[in-house]
Amino acid sequence: MECCARSATSSSMSLVLVAIIATLVQVVYANNASCSDAVPSCSTDTDYFVYKLSFPYLSDYVSVSYENISVRLNISIPEQRNYSYVLVRCGCEHLLKDTGNETVIPVPPRSLGGISTTEIPFIQQLGALHLLKVFYEGQYAYNEQLLMRLKTNLTYNVQHFADFINTSLVPSPPNVTFVDTYSASEFANKTNNKLKYFVTPGIVVKNALARAELFKLYGLVLDVPELADELTHSIVESYLETKALVASHAKYWPSVLINGYFDGLWSLDSGDSYEASFLKDAHAAYRYANSSSSPSLTLNQVVDNFRGADYWINLDLLSPVYSLSELISTYKKQNESQVAIAVEKLAAFQCGQVWSNAKRYRGESNDYYELGSARPDWILKDLVKIFHPELEPNHSFVFYYRLANNDSSSLNLHCPYYNLSSSPPSGRQFIMFHISFNSSMFPIQNALNLSIFPAVASLFGISTSDIEVRFLNPGESSSSNALMYMKLSVPSSNVSSALSTAHFHLASALGSGLKSANVSSTITSMDVTTTAVTSTSSSGLSGGDIAGIVIGCVFGVGLVVGVVIFAYWYGHRRAYKSIQGSPVILGASN
Ligand SMILES: *[C@@H]1O[C@H](CO)[C@@H](O)[C@H](O)[C@H]1NC(C)=O
Ligand SMILES: *[C@@H]1O[C@H](CO)[C@@H](O)[C@H](O)[C@H]1NC(C)=O
Ligand SMILES: *[C@@H]1O[C@H](CO)[C@@H](O)[C@H](O)[C@H]1NC(C)=O
Ligand SMILES: *[C@@H]1O[C@H](CO)[C@@H](O)[C@H](O)[C@H]1NC(C)=O
Ligand SMILES: *[C@@H]1O[C@H](CO)[C@@H](O)[C@H](O)[C@H]1NC(C)=O
Ligand SMILES: *[C@@H]1O[C@H](CO)[C@@H](O)[C@H](O)[C@H]1NC(C)=O
Ligand SMILES: *[C@@H]1O[C@H](CO)[C@@H](O)[C@H](O)[C@H]1NC(C)=O
Ligand SMILES: *[C@@H]1O[C@H](CO)[C@@H](O)[C@H](O)[C@H]1NC(C)=O
Ligand SMILES: *[C@@H]1O[C@H](CO)[C@@H](O)[C@H](O)[C@H]1NC(C)=O
Ligand SMILES: *[C@@H]1O[C@H](CO)[C@@H](O)[C@H](O)[C@H]1NC(C)=O
Ligand SMILES: *[C@@H]1O[C@H](CO)[C@@H](O)[C@H](O)[C@H]1NC(C)=O
Ligand SMILES: *[C@@H]1O[C@H](CO)[C@@H](O)[C@H](O)[C@H]1NC(C)=O
Repeated sequence: MECCARSATSSSMSLVLVAIIATLVQVVYANNASCSDAVPSCSTDTDYFVYKLSFPYLSDYVSVSYENISVRLNISIPEQRNYSYVLVRCGCEHLLKDTGNETVIPVPPRSLGGISTTEIPFIQQLGALHLLKVFYEGQYAYNEQLLMRLKTNLTYNVQHFADFINTSLVPSPPNVTFVDTYSASEFANKTNNKLKYFVTPGIVVKNALARAELFKLYGLVLDVPELADELTHSIVESYLETKALVASHAKYWPSVLINGYFDGLWSLDSGDSYEASFLKDAHAAYRYANSSSSPSLTLNQVVDNFRGADYWINLDLLSPVYSLSELISTYKKQNESQVAIAVEKLAAFQCGQVWSNAKRYRGESNDYYELGSARPDWILKDLVKIFHPELEPNHSFVFYYRLANNDSSSLNLHCPYYNLSSSPPSGRQFIMFHISFNSSMFPIQNALNLSIFPAVASLFGISTSDIEVRFLNPGESSSSNALMYMKLSVPSSNVSSALSTAHFHLASALGSGLKSANVSSTITSMDVTTTAVTSTSSSGLSGGDIAGIVIGCVFGVGLVVGVVIFAYWYGHRRAYKSIQGSPVILGASN
């Protein structure tokens, strides 16, 4: 270039010629270059990465250091491998110092490849879907924009990693391909180490907020750091707001069964899985929340361990079903009547609290596993709306729907819980108990319908549907206490005799109920309140089942009388913070 520029000073004719040549050179350069927006004359004294990113949530996986013309990035996948990258500003490649074994990626790239549907929402929401030139097994994508691109060959849909370098399928290979940690070495091998790829920790990351931070990693490569930062920030904010709202306002800990029966076993997620972290943050009690392994249970074990669970979510069926009867008939059609029989024993089924995460489903693709991998905030909001509907009145479900109960007569459902309204019907009154146990809630909840409700009903001469139980604290399997809230509906005329019965006999009735279900749990304390006396407290408590006077400490040192405010239960009545409205989903119809 310099030589030509010097010789071109002689005549205007050659000036024109040079202009043409320069244009040609530039076109050739641009077509060949693996990046766009090259800086014209790069200088090592200029900072070309002004907007800096940090990775507080991904600190176990990512370390980054900024230089003027490049960004050095180490991705470390625990127990696997480390990958080192140098992202260099387009146009500065020639100034880069010795880089050893690091993969040099000029940014922003002009074309991308992808191999996992979990990458799609990140690429799309960062505005780079138009750069995606090759995608592996794109037929499993949910995203409509990508499907359109595949249909028109704007993105080549390849079926083998080797196809990435097959020029009869892909005329020019992508400048950089996003790969997940599990496929990285196979990808390198099948593409003869010819292609640059960028390994993201992706699905290895279990923490919801760290998932949101993956946007920044994509943002560095795609050179949209500010947008990536904003997206991460808004997802993290929205997630934390929802989590805080639930932590301070959720009244109960409903329990939940997850996943489904497949190929002879019911596989559940460990307590440190991506799924289980949502349950915790959504204030739902999961039996394996503190387990580091992922149990696989037989049907009998599922019934034994989750019979009393309030909810069943994430059915894991080959294709979605939309009603409880369709679920049963699907099992029967698959010659799995034993699954149908087991499932019908679950309280969650009997109460119609069966939820699928396949609301956004097409072909063989469930967007929960695609879009959901980038939007933990929407998953959390969905779950909160399921478990604590009063806390997310304005959120519309993104991924979840409830299986309809449109055939209750043939299914003959009987929900053992929550048959009582919030204030007593005429002629009856509520008596409420708070009972602590020296075990977790799970064995107790599973024994409710089997033996505890019958024992309590017969003690008070009421029906089992006059009893309601919820848990205010799930307790831990070994040490701390489950706290149970039990509400009985008794005839008003019987209140005083019922209280006396409770005082003298309830603890032993509960004890024998537990014993006959083989639960070794002991009651450690019991308080009773009734709606008989109206509270004068101005604490904001309301509703028949919450205000009351302590009649007595039935199982304890002495009789305590006074106004109770169950602070642990209500938390602080802070004003609701407004939460972002319904999610806008780019590139996909609802
Ligand atoms: C493309 O770039 C490569 C590497 O920089 C270079 O070796 C090659 O000659 C270039 N090809 C064209 C057509 O410019
Ligand atoms: C980079 O991608 C562009 C657009 O697909 C392509 O024309 C070019 O050949 C690629 N360059 C390299 C070096 O991969
Ligand atoms: C980066 O640029 C600044 C000036 O903007 C300069 O002072 C500094 O020495 C440069 N750093 C390197 C490593 O070249
Ligand atoms: C990346 O790892 C290499 C080798 O362990 C190390 O020398 C380098 O400082 C690391 N870079 C960053 C940005 O952490
Ligand atoms: C990867 O890097 C981390 C530090 O970032 C180091 O502790 C670890 O040993 C490295 N792993 C491998 C396989 O090199
Ligand atoms: C490059 O990798 C090889 C083998 O993995 C190693 O022996 C060598 O020290 C590395 N070089 C640098 C500069 O890190
Ligand atoms: C897209 O590419 C495939 C494979 O090369 C080819 O069979 C198909 O006809 C192409 N479709 C369009 C719309 O060009
Ligand atoms: C490239 O793709 C074509 C068309 O599918 C196929 O016939 C050919 O065998 C492939 N080449 C290689 C090296 O895989
Ligand atoms: C791919 O793996 C096979 C089997 O391990 C090996 O023989 C081959 O050399 C590898 N190819 C490349 C390009 O690394
Ligand atoms: C179920 O069993 C029947 C009778 O044994 C058989 O005809 C049918 O093909 C089986 N269906 C499936 C889905 O296995
Ligand atoms: C829900 O929306 C209504 C109407 O826009 C609003 O008044 C209410 O405060 C919202 N509730 C929450 C919890 O955001
Ligand atoms: C798990 O452990 C934590 C902390 O020890 C405890 O608060 C929680 O109740 C336990 N959850 C279950 C389901 O056991």
